[in-house]
Amino acid sequence: MSKEKKRFILKRFTPYMGKKKVLLPLSLVLSGISAALNILPFVLVWYITRDILAAPQSIDVSNVGFYASLAFASAAGGIIIYFCALLSSHLAAFRVEVGMQKVGMEKILSMPLGFFDQHSSGKIRKIVNDGAGTTHSFLAHQLPDMAGSVVSPIILIVLIFTVDWRMGIASLIPIILGFITMRFMMSSKGKNFQKMYYDSLEEMSSESVEYIRGIPVVKTFGQTIFSFKRFYDSIIKYKEMVYAYTLLWRKPMSFYSVIMQSAAFFLIPMAIFLIGRGENLSLALADFIFYILISPIFTMLLMKSMYFQQNVMIAGQAIDRLDGLLDYPGMGCTDNTKKIKKHSIEFRDVVFSYEGSGKRAIDKISFKLNEGETIALVGASGGGKTTIARLAARFWDADEGEVLVGGINVRDISKKELMNNISFIFQNTKLFKGSLRENIVFGKENAEEEEINKAIDFSQSREIIESLPDGIDTVIGSKGTYLSGGEQQRIALARAIVKNAPIVLLDEATAFADPENEHLIQKALKELSRGKTTLMIAHRLTSVQNVDRILVIESGKIAEEGTHRELLDKGGIYKTMWDEYQKSVAWKIVTKNIVNKGGQYA
Ligand SMILES: Nc1ncnc2c1ncn2[C@@H]1O[C@H](COP(=O)(O)OP(=O)(O)O)[C@@H](O)[C@H]1O
Ligand SMILES: [Mg+2]
Repeated sequence: MSKEKKRFILKRFTPYMGKKKVLLPLSLVLSGISAALNILPFVLVWYITRDILAAPQSIDVSNVGFYASLAFASAAGGIIIYFCALLSSHLAAFRVEVGMQKVGMEKILSMPLGFFDQHSSGKIRKIVNDGAGTTHSFLAHQLPDMAGSVVSPIILIVLIFTVDWRMGIASLIPIILGFITMRFMMSSKGKNFQKMYYDSLEEMSSESVEYIRGIPVVKTFGQTIFSFKRFYDSIIKYKEMVYAYTLLWRKPMSFYSVIMQSAAFFLIPMAIFLIGRGENLSLALADFIFYILISPIFTMLLMKSMYFQQNVMIAGQAIDRLDGLLDYPGMGCTDNTKKIKKHSIEFRDVVFSYEGSGKRAIDKISFKLNEGETIALVGASGGGKTTIARLAARFWDADEGEVLVGGINVRDISKKELMNNISFIFQNTKLFKGSLRENIVFGKENAEEEEINKAIDFSQSREIIESLPDGIDTVIGSKGTYLSGGEQQRIALARAIVKNAPIVLLDEATAFADPENEHLIQKALKELSRGKTTLMIAHRLTSVQNVDRILVIESGKIAEEGTHRELLDKGGIYKTMWDEYQKSVAWKIVTKNIVNKGGQYA
């Protein structure tokens, strides 16, 4: 990517332009022509002034009229051509935007599922949408303007020296001084400040997000904004930075503003000097007027080029972010049409590490889950249980060893076929913004009403739906209808039941549920996994007593393996876990009784 970065910015946009790659260069050329046409009237006005001043008594009206019409025509032509330049630059910009979004979205669709685990949807949206948006003003407006800003100075310099080189030099003095001042302001110190400015702005905005997230806590504890010291500090830092930045720029900027408006200050003495040396008065005056008219154009051009660098940087960063996304290793997709016939899962010496982590999350794990069986994974947090379930659904590919579904390596199963055969219930499943019905039939759009009803009953979701204003057609998130985590989980289970995939992966599906929900979710899970091949990660050990086999996962390895009975008899890790669990259950029962009794006396 470093090579990429050095490439000319326009080149980096061309791949996204589609077929009509000529649009952007065309707009640059048109904008250049328009800039030239915009300068022509000044020259013509100079001609007219010269004619008038040279012979005030015998003005050739037809000549003046001709110059005037030509000036009008070139000014009008300049505007029309500039319009065409903007038209084609906009067409190009929209094409690039669409192109960038398309390429980004295609890449996102081919991403391993695990990618979404590590990148928030907000960040992905920023890369794809905002990135494309940022490039718009750059391509549509600034780039064509820049072409004008390159053409104009060249013509101007030539003109300045051909009309009268001595006045030319006088008129260039303020421009050169202004340019030097600008360079000084953009010097490494100025650039440093600019970087600091953007950094502190970013820090302040991320701290403000943290602050807003924390508002409920701040409020419930009766605190003020000052409890968010980091946010406060970032504001103060920003304030001081802006203050110092402004002070640094105060003198050069004032000097710059003054000097750029001071052409007359240098031109008048020069004109007087020239006239004093016997130059033709009227010609010198005409030249003087020409220079006075033309020098503000330089000022404007310099101002524009000052911002251009910054815009190149912003557009470059947008492309960098997209490139970063595109460089992300995707997963090889197979065109294989192999169908999964048996619904077993097998791990053969699987090793897996997360990107950037030196540690193996899964360290040579082998096990086989036969069709229709249920295996439970238990063990301390961070052991690797979730990773095993993810590997089975091919969120990532194993680094070593093989993951087989139905006896076929998951790499040789098409994404669609694999997803058709697997239902994955996560710890905290989210519903889409849409009606409950849309959410429920998501995995099987042509589901019959009867299937949907059965799924609602099996997933214990009936009472949720009946309590909502529009029943199953209620849109989640609209009119203040929100579901609790446990309720969302039950709807997600209804979705999985409708999908009716033969393999079910359950990742601590009850972990975040309150006791009432937990009981209902347990019932729903039983319905969902009835007769299915099930890999369950259990949060509560009660739900694993009757499974076919339990694997105790520790530090990415299978530490123990067997049925509930076998593992208890063995007296190892599982036995300890079970004893702890029993104690916590007993403790809960005791506290419950105390609370009940307290209630009676109150
Ligand atoms: N997305 C991830 N990126 C990097 N490391 C991860 C990621 N998810 C889990 N890990 C690490 O992998 C190991 C296993 O995690 P996990 O499979 O979630 O364990 P469990 O589900 O048993 O709690 C842990 O050390 C964890 O920190
Ligand atoms: Mg987990």
